[in-house]
Amino acid sequence: MKLNHELVEKNVGLMAILMVFAISLGGLVEIVPLFFQRETTEPVKGLKPYTALQMEGRDIYIREGCSGCHSQMIRPFRAETERYGHYSVAGESVWEHPFLWGSKRTGPDLARVGGRYSDEWHRRHLLNPRDVVPESNMPGYPWLDKNTLDGELTLKKLQVFRDSFGVPYGSDDELKADVATVIGKTEMEALIAYLQVLGTALK
Ligand code: HEC
Repeated sequence: MKLNHELVEKNVGLMAILMVFAISLGGLVEIVPLFFQRETTEPVKGLKPYTALQMEGRDIYIREGCSGCHSQMIRPFRAETERYGHYSVAGESVWEHPFLWGSKRTGPDLARVGGRYSDEWHRRHLLNPRDVVPESNMPGYPWLDKNTLDGELTLKKLQVFRDSFGVPYGSDDELKADVATVIGKTEMEALIAYLQVLGTALK
């Protein structure tokens, strides 16, 4: 026994191989069961796929880099749940591609911002945050109110979510009807529609 230990301690290559083995095994034991737990792979009851308008809003959220300042992940600590509401659960994110959990909180977490403010509050806030929160250092996004959506790629986006990611969207005809509602809407309307649905599935 003593001899074997000496062998490992004096042989860097062998030690490295054994370390990689130990860490991999530990990782697998922690991660693999998550793939098979219903709780982490099944949507929470009440979760709905994003509508065409919300999906466009989500893409604007990504384009404008909102996740550089806002997380969408409420941790299970009292200080967080009292401020933001119920902690985030995996079943709320199963249809997110990519996840927008984020890791930087210059501004507050947005995982449950849906329904917290009126559409008009969001519009004024996004045009110029200082109009509603005087001490805010969030930038304004006035162009969102001018740019309109042509819906050209919207159908394709929804189809990719349905066909490649398995999000339960309906037939092409149903998607087309939803996409038609997007055309001519402003980017502002789309982004607000997205913000207003965040975190509302978990009752
Ligand atoms: C430079 C960092 C920064 C960026 C980028 C940023 N925000 Fe903010 N955001 C803040 C800060 C700071 C606050 C808190 C002050 C306020 O309410 O304006 C905030 C507040 C908010 C709130 C109110 C949250 C609450 O619970 O009161 C919303 C909604 C919001 N931001 C959405 C957005 C969206 C959407 C984008 C992208 C278009 C964005 N933010 C980009 C920093 C940022």
